[in-house]
Amino acid sequence: MTHAAADLVRQDIAFNLHPYTNLALHEERGPMVIARGEGIYVWDDAGNKYIEGLAGLWCVSLGFSEERLRRAAQRQLDTLPFAHNFAHRTSAPATQLAARLIEVAPAPMAKAYFVNSGSEAVDTAIKIIWYYNNGLGRAQKKKIISRKRGYHGVTVAAGSLTAIPLMQNDFDLPLPRMLHTDTPCHYRNGLDGESEEQFAARLAQNLDDLITREGADTVAAFIAEPVMGAGGLIVPPATYFARVQEVLRRHDVLMVADEVICGFGRTGNWWGSDTYNITPDLVTCAKQLSSGYLPIGAVMVSRPLYETLALQSKKHGAFGTGNTYGGHPVPAAVALETLEIYRERDIISQVRKVAPLFQRRLAALAGHALVGEARGVGLIGGLEIVADKESKQQFDPARKAALTVTERALAHGLIIRPLPGDCIGICPPLVISEAQINALFDKLEQALPEAAAALA
Ligand SMILES: Cc1ncc(COP(=O)(O)O)c(C=O)c1O
Repeated sequence: MTHAAADLVRQDIAFNLHPYTNLALHEERGPMVIARGEGIYVWDDAGNKYIEGLAGLWCVSLGFSEERLRRAAQRQLDTLPFAHNFAHRTSAPATQLAARLIEVAPAPMAKAYFVNSGSEAVDTAIKIIWYYNNGLGRAQKKKIISRKRGYHGVTVAAGSLTAIPLMQNDFDLPLPRMLHTDTPCHYRNGLDGESEEQFAARLAQNLDDLITREGADTVAAFIAEPVMGAGGLIVPPATYFARVQEVLRRHDVLMVADEVICGFGRTGNWWGSDTYNITPDLVTCAKQLSSGYLPIGAVMVSRPLYETLALQSKKHGAFGTGNTYGGHPVPAAVALETLEIYRERDIISQVRKVAPLFQRRLAALAGHALVGEARGVGLIGGLEIVADKESKQQFDPARKAALTVTERALAHGLIIRPLPGDCIGICPPLVISEAQINALFDKLEQALPEAAAALA
């Protein structure tokens, strides 16, 4: 290791407080420093090359060296490095991006509101929903329902909807008024002999029962990722969302589609909502909105919601919320260019072209002794690691089975991510080629038997 590299490691251990990291362990082993990227690859500071099989954090759709995005940021920095959206102001990129988002939205939407992250998008959606119901004189209708293992971010409200114990324990979450319903994981939660269709019907009935028990006049909204990502890569049964939305409509409960991972082509359509026939009242998005190059997220709201917000803001004198960097012109310009590249290069067709190979190679891993289930759609997939395929018995969590697989994969030059429930997420840049998909799964096929031997 060079002096400069050793210095960086020392500084990191001394000063950098790492998210989603075992902090005590970090003091012993230090960081993995990612030094550069090109296409679907990144290199660490020792020069080792990796396939970025999680597109960074499910976000770098266009790969790590898209020159047009660099130039879009540079142009905007040269012209106007800051502007805001408060008090009737705007900049061209923010307004053009709002128009473009509304044009491609998965359901008729009226307006887009900009934030800096997925968590802020979810937090803002919650605020909008509460403000809306107060505007309608429904002061009691405030509870928000998410699903166990759902991931919606980490801020105090969004983190209350992220129903994963690690992310709530000892943070004093969830807040009151946040409820959690079933995970649509047929493999793990289906009953013996229950079909996916019956499972979806049972979950919809449970949701109906929950809303009835709480009182429909107290339940404002249901939030869901079309495909659950960080909670364990869970693909819903085909009829799940149709059944859920039927319940929501009956109880006048809003549907929020959290498209932070699924948005912009990941599932083979513009939105996960298109893939699963979801008709949302609000949409949250981020990540692939800018190919992850700069932080930006958005909430889109339907016309009825917007009209009530407008009346409320008139009553109060303003829509009383805003982020300094919401609609910042530089990330907005990069997002606008990202959407333009998706359109010009027909990124949806690109995903549809390579997804069958991705899904075939993924499904083939189900034959491996450690893999209980391989599941996915489009260019996203997951593995659930088990100790015993027949009984679906998992490893003792202390064995860190999924981490063992991902560490073996790393040794073969593949970055993938262990997720709660001993699952593994695979979510490469959307620009991945068929040859690169084969290389990714070849590495995983080498890693799995090595992990099995280590876990034996
Ligand atoms: C579905 C979903 N919603 C919200 C978030 C939170 O986004 P951020 O990490 O940008 O706050 C994430 C992050 O992974 C996500 O996957």
